[in-house]
Amino acid sequence: MPATAASRSTITALVTGASSGIGAALAALMAADGINLVITARRGPETEAMAADWRQRHGVDVSVIPLDLARPGAARELVVEIDQRGLAIDYLVNNAGFGTYGHFAVTSVTETEELLRLNVESLTILTRLLLPGIIARRGKIMNVASTAAFQPGPHMAVYYASKAYVLHFSEALAYELGDSGVSVTSFCPGATKSGFQQRARMQKAAMLNMVKMPSSEEVARAAWQAMRAGQGVVVPGLLNWLLSRSVRFAPRRLVTWGSALVTGPGGK
Ligand SMILES: NC(=O)c1ccc[n+]([C@@H]2O[C@H](COP(=O)([O-])OP(=O)(O)OC[C@H]3O[C@@H](n4cnc5c(N)ncnc54)[C@H](OP(=O)(O)O)[C@@H]3O)[C@@H](O)[C@H]2O)c1
Repeated sequence: MPATAASRSTITALVTGASSGIGAALAALMAADGINLVITARRGPETEAMAADWRQRHGVDVSVIPLDLARPGAARELVVEIDQRGLAIDYLVNNAGFGTYGHFAVTSVTETEELLRLNVESLTILTRLLLPGIIARRGKIMNVASTAAFQPGPHMAVYYASKAYVLHFSEALAYELGDSGVSVTSFCPGATKSGFQQRARMQKAAMLNMVKMPSSEEVARAAWQAMRAGQGVVVPGLLNWLLSRSVRFAPRRLVTWGSALVTGPGGK
């Protein structure tokens, strides 16, 4: 049901990577709760179609900014565009990200550069540029890390390391923001059904046969609940949570060995 004028939210959230998977499902939940949105991804038409649906069904404002956040300077361009449209961001969801599969020695250099720019650089610079406004409005930030953040990941070395960066950066930022009224949620899902596996070309990874993956919608519900509650580090799913804790007590070489079993070949 569309939000009425009286119930209309004045909150605007920026969601990156909103064209598919967890980001699309999360943006849909926010729209249903009356949150105005700025959504961005490379795929413009898909994102525009979702925006039209949410405007019509939920009565929210949705701005679409198609952009490749893996290009140098893209985070700055996005913030300039947001300013030019006269939009103010209360909630920031840094969700866009991708992985690459295979031994580092033979992975594409270009893809590695893009991964680092998207997963690490754009996330950091967007957060920095939008933070003064978010502090002024006592808003919220959610950075989508992964259970990959908790240990090294042979076969996906750069992706795992990028998510460790996201987790550590977000935890430190949450500490620095202390009693500012701004929450920083580090959301760490495990393997989830989305476009991620195909993009990473990881169909042969053993982990995909080890667990029944939740849908992006299920994971997005946990993410939205965590962000709304202003929680810190959140690992959805009991098994994911136990694994993320257990690696802290095991020798590092054993952890890397176990991780390689999970990421290594063994899938379909
Ligand atoms: N699925 C999993 O198993 C899993 C587990 C843990 C964490 N995560 C994390 O969850 C987040 C969302 O991934 P997902 O699983 O929902 O995968 P997904 O379905 O592939 O979605 C990724 C999103 O990021 C966007 N994106 C990718 N490259 C981009 C670029 N260069 N510029 C701008 N946007 C870009 C994609 O949009 P366009 O293609 O239209 O640009 C898409 O909207 C990622 O950070 C991922 O690392 C996923």
